[in-house]
Amino acid sequence: MRSKIVAANWKMNLTFGEAESLVDDILDRLDEQDELNCEVIICPPFPYLELLTDFEFDEQRFNVGAQNCSAFDMGAYTGEVSAKMLKSIDVDYCIVGHSERRKYFGESDETLAEKVNRLIENNMSPIFCVGEVLEEREAGRHFEVVKEQLEKGLFHLDGDAIYDTIIAYEPVWAIGTGKTATPEQAQEMHAYIRSLVKERYDQAAADDIRILYGGSCNAQNATELFSQPDVDGGLIGGASLKANDFVSICLQASQIGAE
Ligand code: PGA
Repeated sequence: MRSKIVAANWKMNLTFGEAESLVDDILDRLDEQDELNCEVIICPPFPYLELLTDFEFDEQRFNVGAQNCSAFDMGAYTGEVSAKMLKSIDVDYCIVGHSERRKYFGESDETLAEKVNRLIENNMSPIFCVGEVLEEREAGRHFEVVKEQLEKGLFHLDGDAIYDTIIAYEPVWAIGTGKTATPEQAQEMHAYIRSLVKERYDQAAADDIRILYGGSCNAQNATELFSQPDVDGGLIGGASLKANDFVSICLQASQIGAE
């Protein structure tokens, strides 16, 4: 069975001191648990990555991911951070194609495909985000939109590399809005995404790949969402900034993972 993943996307929040105390609080609460039947990935802003990888080695309670990386390999690209740099400080995951990057930073499908390539070349796992905006859903185009995002940004990978990836379905209308997709809407899209993986690759890849839900996922709705057969956990924004809420979401995933 696929193990569940709960990934925190801190976005551009917290000072260094706040980040430190949030991790301390999360670890204190996780330490109260004998075992956790899910994987936890925390994706802080770049300057805090090493703080987290240091904790990771001490505690082994979570993995660390970045929120972005450069499409380029190395060199004269002022302000960029490469996948190779991230790997060199023991970061193993990276969010790619978040709707905020697509919208505010104009990241195209082609750029995202290059970012995915850089990550795979450096033995890192992309957490590849897809999702439709409200008008696309209302026009009944959500399946088509998600399919195109996957085909252009992720499905160029060969058969082996797809196993190193995680997909996150994040309907844009649900991100930071408090408006969550219903469990049925999430399941329907996740099952569709899995069918696309099967079509492009094979049954084994479709059975293996983890598909996370993101968009106003919180301590109140996590169990309902994560209980859907094709929802393998969540990518959590706002609720990941509160230790109580985030750990509650992790424990809910763990509970379902143990069943
Ligand atoms: P949210 O964000 O949980 O605050 O809606 C999720 C995300 O953008 O990854």
